[in-house]
Amino acid sequence: MTQILVLHTSARRDGSLSREYTERLVERLRASHADAKVVVRDLGAEPLPHLDETLLGGWMKPAEQQNEAERAAAARAAGLVDELLTSDIVVIGSAMYNFGITSTLKAWLDHVLQAGRTFKYTENGPVGLAGDRKVYVVTARGGRYQGSPLDHQAPYLKTALGFIGIDDVEFVHVEGQAMGEGEAAKGRAEAEESIAQVA
Ligand SMILES: Cc1cc2nc3c(=O)[nH]c(=O)nc-3n(C[C@H](O)[C@H](O)[C@H](O)COP(=O)(O)O)c2cc1C
Repeated sequence: MTQILVLHTSARRDGSLSREYTERLVERLRASHADAKVVVRDLGAEPLPHLDETLLGGWMKPAEQQNEAERAAAARAAGLVDELLTSDIVVIGSAMYNFGITSTLKAWLDHVLQAGRTFKYTENGPVGLAGDRKVYVVTARGGRYQGSPLDHQAPYLKTALGFIGIDDVEFVHVEGQAMGEGEAAKGRAEAEESIAQVA
């Protein structure tokens, strides 16, 4: 069975293009993975806490020195890593906020980029341990950013996912949504075309 993990990260539910096109992409994937189990994590509606002293305590302190909150925070992070590592495909709906990813997606990354679970340190530098899966990222943006130095969303996600070994990352961009009707329609048509090409 194929497990597809879907992450929604937009703060809005009504009118969210990253959600809409993520769902379209998931439908497309379902067509080629009839046995797929889809697990949805709505980080926009139910945000994870920021990485704080409690979670760091859960990771860094020896078990006998951890308090209850630190143990609970570490267990929450471990559960998120398990969810990632049991998924064959991950689809991330990524709204662009202020040139980058939403803080809700950053909080998820802060939980799952975990030494000993998704990467390890070696004499030759860090090595990713989560590589055995495919990630699709559906970005939604008011402007157009592909290839622009102002894009701190797609390059950052590539870097962060690459750090844990995930190099198979494919982007679907819903761009130009605040650039007038013509550009918005063009951006949506391009996204539909990209989704249609997903195997
Ligand atoms: C707080 C906020 C910040 C935004 N920052 C940017 C930005 O830096 N660049 C851009 O092109 N669009 C920006 N936008 C527009 C969103 O990227 C666009 O509305 C996109 O469709 C949001 O995804 P969603 O439709 O899934 O909510 C911003 C929107 C919000 C609400």
